[in-house]
Amino acid sequence: MLESRPFGALALAYDQIMAEVDYEAWAEFVLAQAGGARPGRVLDLGCGTGNSSAPFLQRGCQVTGLDASAEMLRVAQSKWPRAEWVLASLPHFQLPDRYQLIVSFFDALNNLLDPAELLETFWRCRQLLLLGGTLACDFNTRLGVCELWEGGRIQGSLEAAGHRVSYDWLHHYDPAGGVGTVLASFQVDGQDYLEVHRERGYDPDELASLAAQAGFSQVDLRVFPDGTAPDLLSERVWLFAGG
Ligand SMILES: C[S@@+](CC[C@H](N)C(=O)[O-])C[C@H]1O[C@@H](n2cnc3c(N)ncnc32)[C@H](O)[C@@H]1O
Repeated sequence: MLESRPFGALALAYDQIMAEVDYEAWAEFVLAQAGGARPGRVLDLGCGTGNSSAPFLQRGCQVTGLDASAEMLRVAQSKWPRAEWVLASLPHFQLPDRYQLIVSFFDALNNLLDPAELLETFWRCRQLLLLGGTLACDFNTRLGVCELWEGGRIQGSLEAAGHRVSYDWLHHYDPAGGVGTVLASFQVDGQDYLEVHRERGYDPDELASLAAQAGFSQVDLRVFPDGTAPDLLSERVWLFAGG
């Protein structure tokens, strides 16, 4: 069995596994919550294979996608060769531009297991936002990470770019640290790979506090798609921060 970095072997199969995710609806929600105007420049943190960048690219925005996985970025690059794809690991990143909108979709920032790393990321985002700009990030709450999948296991197989891929993922949750671990086994053309993915759940109060500590004066927590305030049963939450 080969050890693969998180989102390494997965990159091959990611788009098919995520085929049902309505990125367009999420982008509509984000744009509406951020004031409705089409942003000129957008930064997508943890952009993966570019699915979360696509709705902004399709609207003519200038998008920079940043991700720690070269394999995920390679897929993004192949789909959107003219967009800017940056290989970097949060929270330590530097970019020369400023943005009207910084987004992070599909719980990418839950991969930051230490709240100090999330604080650092928020702080850097605040420096990179243009005046009046918005930071919009999707998170799994602690409950969301705990309940990631019913039964704690997902299995499947598919054909991707001429490769036969089967996967078997086991999830378990450590309530003390609020951290979920996924042991993601893959077989690609008969070769076995194992990736270990970890996510820490962030609850709305903690997110609001970290965003305020990073210097944001307007902080709002909302649930997709209604835009209502989260409650104790919310498994996902969007943070909107500006000011
Ligand atoms: C679940 S995927 C989401 C990808 C994309 N945003 C989407 O919605 O399809 C999480 C992504 O976050 C990236 N990621 C995880 N930790 C990261 C870090 N510390 N810095 C940058 N990217 C990271 C992973 O490589 C992966 O591509």
